[in-house]
Amino acid sequence: MKFSHGARLIGVGAGLPSAVVTNFDLEKLVDTSDEWIKTRTGISERRIASEEETTSQLAIAAAKDAIGFAGIDPQEIELVVVATSTPDNLYPSTACMVQAAIGAKRAAAFDMEAACTGIVYALAVAQQFIGSGTFKCALVIGVDIHSRFLNWADRNTCILFGDGAGAFIIKADEKENEMLGTYLRADGSGGHLLHIPNTGSAYPHAGVTPPTATHGFLEMNGRAIYEFAVNAVPEAVRAACSDAGITVDDIDFLIPHQANMRIIKSAAERLGMAPEKIVSNVNEMGNTSAASIPLAMWQALKRGQIQVGSTCALVGFGGGLTWGSAIVKWTAVDQRQSSQDEGTQVTEVEASKK
Ligand code: ACO
Repeated sequence: MKFSHGARLIGVGAGLPSAVVTNFDLEKLVDTSDEWIKTRTGISERRIASEEETTSQLAIAAAKDAIGFAGIDPQEIELVVVATSTPDNLYPSTACMVQAAIGAKRAAAFDMEAACTGIVYALAVAQQFIGSGTFKCALVIGVDIHSRFLNWADRNTCILFGDGAGAFIIKADEKENEMLGTYLRADGSGGHLLHIPNTGSAYPHAGVTPPTATHGFLEMNGRAIYEFAVNAVPEAVRAACSDAGITVDDIDFLIPHQANMRIIKSAAERLGMAPEKIVSNVNEMGNTSAASIPLAMWQALKRGQIQVGSTCALVGFGGGLTWGSAIVKWTAVDQRQSSQDEGTQVTEVEASKK
């Protein structure tokens, strides 16, 4: 073990908007078809936030769900890291809003941004703090509302994304280390291939009163991102396995960023992984960016696909360009199951009330 303290994932949670938007709904907006979207991406439907639902609300719902799963007191949490590209505002950070809402009174809190790879980066950051002995318990959230930054007249992009939040609780463990290995990479020279221009201080619109410009929308070179992704995923998984001292054959489940089923299948094939090892919910969630890996894991646990003791390769890729992987052993059980069997459903009900 390269850290002085071990780390374990002890909780996972979700926060989802209530509205489901199907491919048939999108047929009414742009020149597309359910068949085209399903064939090219594997997506059938996605959740889209209403005007009232915010990034911080989804993050808070996911945090509460994960805290319930882990069966911990929020005051045990010493670190809140939120990975998002679509915060409510530039500041206060989404992490500070979550920290206040859940009553994590002893916690440090900050946001970080690595687009769809953000959750993998955030897990690695949390592991550094826990592994060094600085903190004993961390809440890590991936959340995005990309729907606010999509051009709903652009069929190349608007069909791909969904909104949502996913959370993990990580705790120090003196005996075992279950966060086995990580690998993080970036290549800023490819930033233009996937970006949301006109959303930061590079575009101050000085002197225009009242401001007339609106913010930009997500722009993507789909082919280039596809090529990048099918190479980045195997590279990251192999490197993280090497860091963990295991081989790809030791992986029970591949939990990739849920961008597109064709990318996922092609990457799994390149890794020589059987289709049964793939965890995916892209058909019903679309690409939820930083939230997609914890959301996929949350649903796989609900379905009983991932069992206690499974070795999982979490792997992300996205804007930046960024990519990375974390190898974890999953040993946690939902602490609510013994008392009530509602568990993660609560989150969806809570979100739908908003
Ligand atoms: N409905 C119908 N036709 C469409 C649609 C649509 N929604 N979108 C594009 N088309 C058309 C194109 O206009 C093109 O028509 P043409 O041949 O007449 O010019 C044709 O379909 C083929 O278009 P391609 O772009 O070549 O289609 P491709 O098979 O490459 O699939 C896709 C496009 C799905 C976007 C694919 O490239 C892809 O998945 N790329 C990766 C995208 C991705 O995952 N992005 C997120 C990264 S993660 C993050 O950080 C946000």
